[in-house]
Amino acid sequence: MSETFQFNLKKVEGSARLGEITMPRGTIRTPAFMPVGTVGTVKAMYLDQVRDSGADIILGNTYHLMLRPGPERVARLGGLHELIRWPHPILTDSGGFQVMSLSSLRKLDEQGVTFKSHVDGSTHHMSPERSIEIQGLLDSDIQMQLDECVALPAEPKDIERAMEMSLRWAERCRVAFGEQPGKAMFGIVQGGDVQALRVRSAEGLKQLDLKGYAVGGLAVGEPQPVMLDMLDITLPVLPTEKPRYLMGVGTPDDILKSVARGIDMFDCVMPTRSGRHGLAFTRRGKVNIRNARHAEDSRPLDEESTCPAARDYSRAYLHHLVRSNEALGGMLLSWNNLHYYQELMQGIRKSIAEGRFRDFYAETLENWAQGDI
Ligand code: GUN
Repeated sequence: MSETFQFNLKKVEGSARLGEITMPRGTIRTPAFMPVGTVGTVKAMYLDQVRDSGADIILGNTYHLMLRPGPERVARLGGLHELIRWPHPILTDSGGFQVMSLSSLRKLDEQGVTFKSHVDGSTHHMSPERSIEIQGLLDSDIQMQLDECVALPAEPKDIERAMEMSLRWAERCRVAFGEQPGKAMFGIVQGGDVQALRVRSAEGLKQLDLKGYAVGGLAVGEPQPVMLDMLDITLPVLPTEKPRYLMGVGTPDDILKSVARGIDMFDCVMPTRSGRHGLAFTRRGKVNIRNARHAEDSRPLDEESTCPAARDYSRAYLHHLVRSNEALGGMLLSWNNLHYYQELMQGIRKSIAEGRFRDFYAETLENWAQGDI
């Protein structure tokens, strides 16, 4: 545990990095996967299970929590960690991305974003300063700048305008955040699929000397090779001694390939959301448990897994639960998936530590390609 926010890079193999973020609420082993706890719950999971699966940090959303139960109320209740009973680090997204995808009647200008709540239709305004204030009221450990993420494909001039405004907002967020030694505020690289804009964004943020850097605006409609190209362009511009976080990504394959390019942190709803829809991630790739071929299959998802959801229940039972829309189906598959994601991160970290990430990378891709048997 550490009084201040620190990132220690422990080992590098190629561009893949093994590290550790230490901060007052705990240590985050990187590369890290952060389960998404949008409204103060990692859906269909007990936080004890989330912790036991290997998560060092979870993510919360400013947008959802500001609308309900409200940041001032969360603060009166002792902050988000106290409210949800998760004493370990929490990262909060800043709200802009969720406003664009969830709210209606959005208006975005230099001052910030005005929008109507998807909960009750009420009108709200969020400036970069208010986003940081809300994240402070939630008592978030790693706070994100307010940014504007453009869905792809988009016109370069629209991507450029959003990127430049996000840079100015980064500066305002940095001032609003001030000096908080035990916490961190990360900037977010934007620039869509335009290489020059990605470089400009990363250089601009680097000058602000932030505690960490996220890459945003990816996995928003572009093919995977474009996303990986953007990482290849962006990451060499960022300082090596700061953590790098790829926002909203992704599939296990996206994660492995992004680690190979130098990403340290990930978050994604995929393991929990697709779990609730009947999709299981395993060492042998994806299994759609709704498929009729599982109806009388008494084998578990993976008899070698250390996760009870993967090991102790038959595919036939999981199939039945999911087909019957039973809550337990989503619970067991979310558990399996989060466990698998953390097992993947653990495998990645161990292999970098032992100088065999290259082999791990090849073996993992091979196992996925073999498919479910
Ligand atoms: N989550 C996924 N992508 C993004 C992004 O570009 N910005 C923010 N703030 N959150 C994200």
